[in-house]
Amino acid sequence: MKTPKRPCTPSSPASPGTRSALFSALKRDLELHDRIEEQVFDPMVEAHLKTAGFQARDKQAHEDVEAALARLDALAIDDKDWAPSFLAMQALLLRHVADEEVNIFGAVRKHVSAGALEALGQQMRAAKAEQHKAA
Ligand SMILES: [Fe+2]
Repeated sequence: MKTPKRPCTPSSPASPGTRSALFSALKRDLELHDRIEEQVFDPMVEAHLKTAGFQARDKQAHEDVEAALARLDALAIDDKDWAPSFLAMQALLLRHVADEEVNIFGAVRKHVSAGALEALGQQMRAAKAEQHKAA
């Protein structure tokens, strides 16, 4: 998943239907991304870096974002609390992405061979393609 160049603005004048469709697509993509990360990436990181607790920390961050997504799901798309709840979810997500990019990816690049990283990339692409087919 690419990190957005700038945060989304849920108060933009998108129609409720457009907002709902975009939110559904975002939620599906985030859930799919989290599953692949937990099934493929996290075990490799744990094995190569001996970073005790990384998997638990990543899983907790995913659960926090998923809970925030569930709170959004429970709100009507035009509810006055929807935009603030979206921003709260976005803040959790961006904090997690920054943690991964700064603390994890740097360590992975330093300690995992180029061949192992290439194999990991292939595994993640295959898992993504498989889950897209299943969705
Ligand atoms: Fe993650």
